[in-house]
Amino acid sequence: MKSHVWRPLYIVVGVVALVLLARTILVPEDFGIGERGYMYGWHRKGNEADWKAVKVKYKTMDFCKECHQDKYNDLRHSPHAAIQCENCHGPALGHPDDPPTLTIDRHRDLCIRCHARLPYNGSGRGAIRGINPETHHPEAECVLCHYPHNPKLEAKR
Ligand code: HEC
Ligand code: HEC
Ligand code: HEC
Ligand code: HEC
Repeated sequence: MKSHVWRPLYIVVGVVALVLLARTILVPEDFGIGERGYMYGWHRKGNEADWKAVKVKYKTMDFCKECHQDKYNDLRHSPHAAIQCENCHGPALGHPDDPPTLTIDRHRDLCIRCHARLPYNGSGRGAIRGINPETHHPEAECVLCHYPHNPKLEAKR
């Protein structure tokens, strides 16, 4: 056979050999060895343990209910009912042991990220009642006038 047929074939064989070599080096030992095999168990066996070891940072509001019942009740029946406590106070982690208390952020930015009026008609974000932060009482914190756990009510302080 003429060499112009063989030459591209050498390249193909070379590439296949390279891929197989790279595979043995790159694919971890425990890849695809789970019960579901290589075909369906498309992950490292060790990755299961990795995920089990991940520390859960967020607890959701059901957890807060036990100790901050008043805030929970206020929030539950408010226009903010869909917002998790931790969205404003940060992840609870091991609270109240570690950290013993959570962040209280009274800056306007906390509210502006959802309430700056944006012209996105038809999107969920655009539907949230908006204000213009530059003209809506720019001198004061929002929580001076609005109670964050139920913004239908006036601020409680
Ligand atoms: C097992 C009881 C318990 C649970 C559950 C709990 N907390 Fe607390 N929390 C406390 C205690 C105790 C303090 C410190 C005393 C205080 O200031 O009220 C505290 C303080 C706070 C503070 C600061 C209060 C302040 O005046 O400085 C915030 C904010 C807070 N918790 C939010 C939350 C949120 C949000 C959750 C749910 C993700 C939660 N907590 C779950 C017991 C709890
Ligand atoms: C929209 C944001 C937001 C959400 C959601 C929210 N908080 Fe707050 N929270 C605040 C802000 C801001 C303050 C400070 C209010 C102030 O000083 O007037 C505060 C204050 C607090 C305080 C301490 C001060 C106080 O008034 O006694 C606690 C405790 C607290 N929140 C718990 C919770 C819990 C529990 C939830 C969920 C059930 C929750 N918060 C949901 C923004 C929020
Ligand atoms: C994660 C997004 C988010 C954050 C953060 C947030 N809000 Fe809201 N807020 C909403 C949604 C959603 C509604 C309900 C829909 C609506 O009224 O447009 C709402 C409603 C309101 C309303 C209208 C209440 C009524 O009369 O119906 C006020 C006022 C308000 N929020 C103030 C605040 C203040 C003050 C803060 C900061 C402490 C804050 N919000 C933080 C999403 C947010
Ligand atoms: C000095 C008091 C005061 C401060 C500070 C203040 N507001 Fe208001 N806000 C009001 C009053 C009063 C109304 C109702 C009348 C109106 O629409 O202006 C209102 C209305 C709103 C509404 C409802 C608008 C609507 O279309 O129904 C939202 C949302 C809101 N404020 C968010 C905020 C946010 C976010 C901040 C901080 C960046 C803030 N407010 C700061 C007094 C205040």
